[in-house]
Amino acid sequence: MFLKSLSLQNFRNYDKSDFNFAKDIAVVIGKNTAGKTNLVESIFYLSTGRGSKAEKDADIIRFGETTARISGEIEDKTELSVVVSRENSEERETIRKKHLVNGVAKRRADFAGHLVCVLFSPEDLDIITSGPSLRRRLLDDLLEQVDKDYRNAVITYTKALRQRNALLDNARESGVRNEKLFEYWDNLLIDNAAVITKKREEFVQFINDFSKEIFDFIVYYDKSILSAARLLQYKEAEVGAGVTLVGPHRDDLSFSMFNAPSGGQGTTHDIKTFGSRGQQRLTILQLKIIQLAFIEKTIGQKPTLILDDIFSELDAGHISLVLDMLGNQQSIVTTTHKEFIDPKILKNADVIELKAR
Ligand SMILES: Nc1ncnc2c1ncn2[C@@H]1O[C@H](COP(=O)(O)OP(=O)(O)O)[C@@H](O)[C@H]1O
Ligand SMILES: [Mg+2]
Repeated sequence: MFLKSLSLQNFRNYDKSDFNFAKDIAVVIGKNTAGKTNLVESIFYLSTGRGSKAEKDADIIRFGETTARISGEIEDKTELSVVVSRENSEERETIRKKHLVNGVAKRRADFAGHLVCVLFSPEDLDIITSGPSLRRRLLDDLLEQVDKDYRNAVITYTKALRQRNALLDNARESGVRNEKLFEYWDNLLIDNAAVITKKREEFVQFINDFSKEIFDFIVYYDKSILSAARLLQYKEAEVGAGVTLVGPHRDDLSFSMFNAPSGGQGTTHDIKTFGSRGQQRLTILQLKIIQLAFIEKTIGQKPTLILDDIFSELDAGHISLVLDMLGNQQSIVTTTHKEFIDPKILKNADVIELKAR
């Protein structure tokens, strides 16, 4: 698993740019707004067929242009491309997205997984401190890349959920529930939820079994089970709410540490509430190491590690822990100043300087 080259056309702030990665470590240097995060996002698109944040696909098209293209070649000469285009007619705008493997269009479920990556950026701290959607995204970002059954389940689940919510909305307005229609979507949701929940559970178990050298913590999986019985239980409430109230789209995780300074033996403390900023950072750093190990165990190959501008927020101790992660797999590191990177590492790295745009 090695990304050898990347080519961007009308992607975000890039008009046309080509990058080659030959060595195990690539260091991308650029001032603020030079396009470091955009470059990282383009690689994430090649891995998953979607963005790393919740933005719309159309947002990646360079301002004033109509078609964005991301292409990359991986080690075994497979060429991956994502093309997003905008077509305007008088009435409306249509956004089209294509995922291509060696020039052949694929469904997203068949496109993702050719290139597997782990991304680490300063915003990852929000996984711990903000709401549950980022924690579900953490699970999806990882499991969608390494598991085709999971990808298929998420794609089907998401579509079925949208249909079922539309039915609920309808039922709320009209006061009539068409049970036959519900039965179809309920079954589809129940089947796919079972796959998603099981695979999330396996990853959580992997985290909890992992021997954590940087920072010890435990993850609690607060799963929202979707079953016929639970749907029945929430039937009344759902009519009022107009949306599906149970299922993996309501899952959450919480991270707890052991023996915090004032804690007693055997107790755990929620890192979101009681962890210092430093402990939250260590949790994320440890989590990234666990993700690398989980991927290697699951697919038998090492993923590409991408660190996006994380050095300016870390102290020297943390920086050296992070630098230890490099070199074990392809690593692409972005930074504003090359002084953050150990000269020994720089000497053996491809150094790519982004021009100010
Ligand atoms: N669709 C787009 N078209 C053109 N420029 C964009 C688009 N989306 C974002 N940008 C610009 O890209 C720049 C940010 O690049 P980014 O990769 O975040 O920089 P950094 O190097 O600081 O990580 C900003 O100037 C932003 O306005
Ligand atoms: Mg950035």
